[in-house]
Amino acid sequence: MVKILITGGAGNIGSSLAEKLIQNNNYYVVIADNLLTGSLDKLPYPAANNLKFIKCDVNNYQDLAAIMLAHGFDYVFHYAAMVGVKRTLNNPMGVLRDIEGIKNVLSLSKNTSVKRVFYSSSSEVYGEPVEFPQNEQTTPLNSKLPYAIVKNVGEAFFKSYKKEYGLDYTIFRFFNTYGPKQSKDFVVSKFIYAAVNNHDITIFGDGSQTRTFCYIDDNIDATIEIFERGMFVNEVINLGSSLEISIFELAQLVIRVTESSSKIIHLEALKEGDMTRRQPDNSKMKKVLRRDLITIEEGIKNMINMQFSSLVNN
Ligand SMILES: NC(=O)c1ccc[n+]([C@@H]2O[C@H](COP(=O)([O-])OP(=O)(O)OC[C@H]3O[C@@H](n4cnc5c(N)ncnc54)[C@H](O)[C@@H]3O)[C@@H](O)[C@H]2O)c1
Repeated sequence: MVKILITGGAGNIGSSLAEKLIQNNNYYVVIADNLLTGSLDKLPYPAANNLKFIKCDVNNYQDLAAIMLAHGFDYVFHYAAMVGVKRTLNNPMGVLRDIEGIKNVLSLSKNTSVKRVFYSSSSEVYGEPVEFPQNEQTTPLNSKLPYAIVKNVGEAFFKSYKKEYGLDYTIFRFFNTYGPKQSKDFVVSKFIYAAVNNHDITIFGDGSQTRTFCYIDDNIDATIEIFERGMFVNEVINLGSSLEISIFELAQLVIRVTESSSKIIHLEALKEGDMTRRQPDNSKMKKVLRRDLITIEEGIKNMINMQFSSLVNN
């Protein structure tokens, strides 16, 4: 039995990863999550014998130590973090406390002989863009906001633990990842929810800022491949789509796909935290996936079918 810990496993990406991993009966998955933005509703249903949820604040050493010492995990996915543009801008001290969680995960992984730790870093480490596409090796890291700085510090901790203690890692730099389990305050879910209810769709500024959106299945399929085929050990890999779309175009697309009568309303532009552009060099990811990534239109349709279908007007 391979024992796997997923911190933040009651969240969007972590719960989707757990759902996929437990399909293999040789894996035993423990989720440690304080339910800050996660929810028990996101966990696979019906409950599986090879999945356990434990409520835990990973930033509290004693809390996490009790779990890690009791189980002796083979692999750890450290996905717990305070997330969300507004939440992280409003709670910088809370964001900085996540450094404790990173240190706890690494020190306990080292002391319990974990074989490899996977870390959910972020496209935010690239900061205000200096070049496109953003490449893992060559693009300078220009992060200034606490959330991005913590991810950057986290990456430095993972690399340092390898150097000093030989603990293997893989750093994932996730770019915007969306799916049916995502909180309603993230842009794709927010727009779909507004559109299916024919409410106004609000966007910050003129909406010309572009993003790339990665459907959750692409993230999870790539992660499972990297995990099971022992790829990118002690390396960094961008996980995201390279197809850019402006926020205004996204709103228009959601309105078209949902056949909604919603109007697009412009709010004052955010003063910070809303980058003009972001686009990964995802050539490593494409080699892992060996198939095309799911388009934003397909992803939106999947979300509507899986989550919002009862709300769509006929
Ligand atoms: N979704 C994206 O677009 C994206 C992009 C870049 C990076 N990431 C990173 O991926 C990871 C997962 O993000 P997500 O989109 O699934 O968000 P999410 O909010 O759905 O998941 C985060 C989970 O961590 C939990 N959590 C937060 N602080 C915790 C703590 N101290 N102890 C235990 N649990 C804690 C939350 O309750 C939640 O379940 C995060 O580390 C995030 O920074 C996500």
